[in-house]
Amino acid sequence: MSLSTVTTIQALRDMLKQWRKAGNSVAFVPTMGNLHDGHLQLVKKAKECADKVVVSLFVNPTQFGVGEDFNHYPRTESEDTKKLDAIGTDLLFLPSVSEIYSENHRTSVSVSGLSNLHCGKTRVGHFDGVATIVCKLFNIVQPDLAYFGEKDFQQLTLIRTLVRDLNIPVEICGIETAREADGLAMSSRNGYLSAEERLVAPALYRSLCQARDSILAGEQNYPALEKKLILSLREAGLQPEYFSVCRQSDLMPAGLDDIDLVILAAARLGKTRLIDNVYFSKVLL
Ligand code: PAF
Repeated sequence: MSLSTVTTIQALRDMLKQWRKAGNSVAFVPTMGNLHDGHLQLVKKAKECADKVVVSLFVNPTQFGVGEDFNHYPRTESEDTKKLDAIGTDLLFLPSVSEIYSENHRTSVSVSGLSNLHCGKTRVGHFDGVATIVCKLFNIVQPDLAYFGEKDFQQLTLIRTLVRDLNIPVEICGIETAREADGLAMSSRNGYLSAEERLVAPALYRSLCQARDSILAGEQNYPALEKKLILSLREAGLQPEYFSVCRQSDLMPAGLDDIDLVILAAARLGKTRLIDNVYFSKVLL
């Protein structure tokens, strides 16, 4: 295997030091493992743009709330390692929880105004956990470029905001959501779906596309549109958490003057929580 794996921050830094000395640029793809094609596309894009690619695999406990699936989150390290090796990843960082969080760890990063919206309303503390681990990983790896999927649009917006606000010298690259043939956004959690639920799940993306098409066709009553699609998701057998027409810049409710929009949605299907989004610009007439 050409892929090297390191488990400590020191070993990672030693490797990065050698690469930097040789003048290599470094791209970084943080993950929680259980890799699917969406993750692999991030790594492939990263390889196109940098000399070396580092992937981290760390199921971050601080971004899981009480009663969430931290203990059951799928851990498939040996399959993940093979997949990463096959596509030419240079280095896998596979730290333990104690390597990342010392016993007296006290610092948390919070992006106010973004952390408590949408997914943050039901997943209390989740985005502080994400912001903190992403900051830590950026400080550990110090990459030139970092890659994130657009499926987690709120996460991507939060990361862009914290990088801007904390002047972290990294370029954030968002990569289009990878989808199954029927439109379902790829996710490590799709594996929780039963065969029947899997047939219902693409309704989430279809409803987002329907909302986008209505707006592009002239629909102006966004709250009524949101209500209509929440009802249609319930009829399809999902339990929607939110369905929100927002402006892309800060994920606040969109007004009629806003041009760059994103529609964000989350819904439960059995024990699986699905999220997805579509973003687009309204055509000015
Ligand atoms: O998107 C994820 O997989 C995680 O939230 C991330 C960015 C790796 C932080 O743990």
